[in-house]
Amino acid sequence: MDKFVVNGGKRLRGRITVSGAKNAAVAILPAVLLAESPCIIENVPDISDVHGILKALSALGAKVTPLSRTTFEIDPTEVKSFVVNKEMAQGMRASSYFLGALLGRMRRAKVAPPGGCAIGLRPIDQHIKGFEALGAKVSIESGMVVAKAEKLGGGTVYLDMVSVGATVNIMIAAARARGMTVIENAAREPHIVDLANFLNSMGADIMGAGTNVIKIRGVEHLKGTTYSIIPDQIEAGTYMVAAAATRGDVIISNVIPKHLESITAKLKEAGARIEEGDEFVRVTMDKRPVKCNVKTMPHPGFPTDMQPQFATLLALADGTSIVTESVWESRFRYVEQLTFMGADIKVDGKSAIITGVKNLKAAPVKADDLRAGAAMIIAGLVAEGETEISDIEYIDRGYEQVVEKLTAVGADIKRVSDEDFGYSLKAN
Ligand code: EPZ
Repeated sequence: MDKFVVNGGKRLRGRITVSGAKNAAVAILPAVLLAESPCIIENVPDISDVHGILKALSALGAKVTPLSRTTFEIDPTEVKSFVVNKEMAQGMRASSYFLGALLGRMRRAKVAPPGGCAIGLRPIDQHIKGFEALGAKVSIESGMVVAKAEKLGGGTVYLDMVSVGATVNIMIAAARARGMTVIENAAREPHIVDLANFLNSMGADIMGAGTNVIKIRGVEHLKGTTYSIIPDQIEAGTYMVAAAATRGDVIISNVIPKHLESITAKLKEAGARIEEGDEFVRVTMDKRPVKCNVKTMPHPGFPTDMQPQFATLLALADGTSIVTESVWESRFRYVEQLTFMGADIKVDGKSAIITGVKNLKAAPVKADDLRAGAAMIIAGLVAEGETEISDIEYIDRGYEQVVEKLTAVGADIKRVSDEDFGYSLKAN
């Protein structure tokens, strides 16, 4: 298995360009199944979660044609299958979106249960509640989630908690349902708005995306469209924190600053200077971070997907900070890895109490999940010595060309395979 080897202590300087948003792409690509003609999707991030979705679309019978590394033509007209089996689902959370897309396209869906980062139980009860409000029958049959509907009619769904996935799935299924669907307590993330804009560009009639009440007036036909995915808010935030942690000076370009507001506000609280342009933010930091408290919340609150990265910055702060995780029940697994590097963090239920240390020391660590892996990279960039990060396939799920992007701003980071370590795990 590959590893990242990071030689820390280098200040990041220069420019990093952000790729398309993972959590928008993995929602928009399955939604192409609703179209009756080909779609061209641009600014698609070149990451393994997206590769998995594209493979599943092909397996369903869609014609997927790469027009460039980040642009794809997808023609769903020949799709007849409504089954997404275990290998097609690839243990990704986003495979659940095929439920809404196939229900919306052919009133039937049979999808392997979704996987996803081990940051807590990943139930889909709210997704199912939404499908049932549209008139579908949902059951579990030999380990597969089976949904079917004679016809899909509009309905009102009051989500028990703010759920990105349920909001996405219900919006997709409702786009071609007959009548008006209302999602109350809807998620407001930028990727929800991006999905609504994509569906509307195909001829859907969706109002209120970005607020906590989304209305979808179902339409009979949706046509192919050309659509460019928004920049990735969390990738941008990750590099903003890396710039601050290394006391560097980095311009992060191809961003929508409004999507970064809560991250920018917290970084300023921690002592960073942030300059905002139309499509870039510039992060400079020339001193030790200042302690501050963070509580993750659904958008527009501080994103849970930035929690491990920001906690790593606070591990170096002057003073004690408290990080509270209010979205996921177990998103502190990375803390143990940081303590191997000398961090002083105590987890107490939903909170981590972080007593800042002057510096971290290199140690062999692993990526427990996607954003935990990003936190390990940030820690390695700062730590004295050579940090080896294993299980980096998690990082490849959500960060395009992370080695190239960081190397371009002065980081000493390499992707190394086991063979390069002079031994191979494969039995001889
Ligand atoms: C999406 O996951 C993201 N993944 C996650 O990002 C992100 O952490 C999360 O939204 C919150 O922003 C994708 O978009 C592919 P939720 P999702 O439904 O949809 C509970 C990353 O790092 N819940 O908003 O699975 C759930 O257990 C990943 O990019 C139910 O109880 O998250 C959680 O506590 C990690 N029942 C809370 O709601 C349901 O039916 C929020 O979950 C659905 C959710």
